Amino acid sequence: WQLVVPRDKSLPPLVFHWLPFIGSAPSYGNDPLTFFFKCREKYGDVFTYVMFGRKVTVALGPKGNNFVLGGKSKAFSAEDAYTHFTTPVFGKDVVYDVPNEVFMEQKRFVKVGLSTENFRVYVDEIEREVDDFMNRDGAFRIYQMNDINEWASFDVLKVMSEITILTASRTLQGREVRESLDKSFSELYMDLDGGFTPLNFLFPNLPLESYRKRDAAHIKMSEFYQSILKKRKAGSVSHDHDMMAALMDQQYRNGRPLADHEIAHIMIALLMAGQHTSSSTGSWALLHLADNPAIAEAVYEEQVKHFGLSEGQFRPMTYEELRALPILDSVIRETLRVHPPIHSIMRYVREPVVIPPTLSAPSKDSTFVVPKGHYVLACPLVSQMDPKIWRDCETWEPARWSDPEGAAAKAYTEYEDATGEQIDFGFGLVSKGTESPYQPFGAGRHRCIGEQFAYLQLGTIIATLIRKLELRLDADELPKHNFHTMIMLPKDPRTISYRRRHFD
Ligand code: HEM
Repeated sequence: WQLVVPRDKSLPPLVFHWLPFIGSAPSYGNDPLTFFFKCREKYGDVFTYVMFGRKVTVALGPKGNNFVLGGKSKAFSAEDAYTHFTTPVFGKDVVYDVPNEVFMEQKRFVKVGLSTENFRVYVDEIEREVDDFMNRDGAFRIYQMNDINEWASFDVLKVMSEITILTASRTLQGREVRESLDKSFSELYMDLDGGFTPLNFLFPNLPLESYRKRDAAHIKMSEFYQSILKKRKAGSVSHDHDMMAALMDQQYRNGRPLADHEIAHIMIALLMAGQHTSSSTGSWALLHLADNPAIAEAVYEEQVKHFGLSEGQFRPMTYEELRALPILDSVIRETLRVHPPIHSIMRYVREPVVIPPTLSAPSKDSTFVVPKGHYVLACPLVSQMDPKIWRDCETWEPARWSDPEGAAAKAYTEYEDATGEQIDFGFGLVSKGTESPYQPFGAGRHRCIGEQFAYLQLGTIIATLIRKLELRLDADELPKHNFHTMIMLPKDPRTISYRRRHFD
């Protein structure tokens, strides 16, 4: 028999589990969406589950997102939740290895590099990089044979991962990184990336080869960026349009410029932040376009309308023009709704926080409290795939974003009618509120600052590919999500068939 200790009534309901310590980790790890929907049915929008000894309190829905992402950093700490697995990869003195106020200053420095002026230069650079890749890489060998009208296929994640790192390094990361990509840099990147897994999140230090490789790769990567900085300082070549140039000009509020190792580590953090998020989104977008040829044709026709010259010939896009393409934009927006790369966002609870009764309460005149030592978790994936909020939530339907009277808007009005709540959802816009059901880029003080760059990078890549290729899905249905990686990637097999567009 077991001594049953009565549970503190102020605690949110605890998800039932058989295995102490391990708790609900397998259910969450295999399929968080199904797990959270089941828990919601049983316990409501707020509940706590156990995951390898950690207690994680989940707050679902727009109000849950607001509770977690709009919380004060004094109470809900991102650095306490993440530093154990980000600092070995990014390095010391940046991001979650520094107090939040310092990281907020660093985010401000990065924003200087993410300027419209730089973006104007990037569109052309990305287009040329994708073009070169298509004319060089084995995945596109049929495309390279000009006169062949055959179909061939490629692994979309592999292709998108390569194109993403090539285009990010040609633009943000800078010329030296791009030139090193064919050499040692790629290997270092792979080793570093191997240290950015759910296993590393759960167990910061294990005596495994991948952990050793991660640490060795970090040291070399940091040295690599610092050696670029030294050469740049000694040389006379100008690098006006990359992130390193922007960071070299910045100083903290107390007047101190960034140290070389801080710049190096911010560059590593940005490389990691943008790589899987963008390559995953690009892969899912292409998979859906291959599965919906009519929508792919609409994207193509939009290109022809704005940039078409003679058949198959296009003039380059400007950044301003790229931003004003509603069909391409809605393809990316809808892909991020159905496949937000980051499905769960966590914070460590530093001091007890009362849960607003509108979100969850045990009875009319009492409240729940999240105690110190718990983690809180917001799940944009749940609110973005909630059938109570979105009509045909499982259907990838870009048109829902361009039509204010469209499916999603109507569904949301029904949600408002049912709950009596008015929420600024921002249809057709990027909603910045912390209480929105649509948050692929997070919200609040930790919100993504790479969103505009991601749209620019993805939009240019997709447009360049669609201008030249027809796509078809190889399998009968889309791949499932792989939840065993930090980012929601498509499971293998994920091949797409393509053929070169013909105009005769
Ligand atoms: C934060 C998603 C691309 C840099 C975030 C967060 C999300 C996110 C959900 C919030 C994390 C949290 O609150 O814990 C995405 C998606 C992307 C993308 C879906 C692409 C489709 C990028 C790119 C960069 C970047 C390209 C860099 C150039 C950052 C930074 C933060 C952030 C610096 C701030 C982290 C913090 O304040 O704690 N991103 N991101 N992201 N992202 Fe992105």
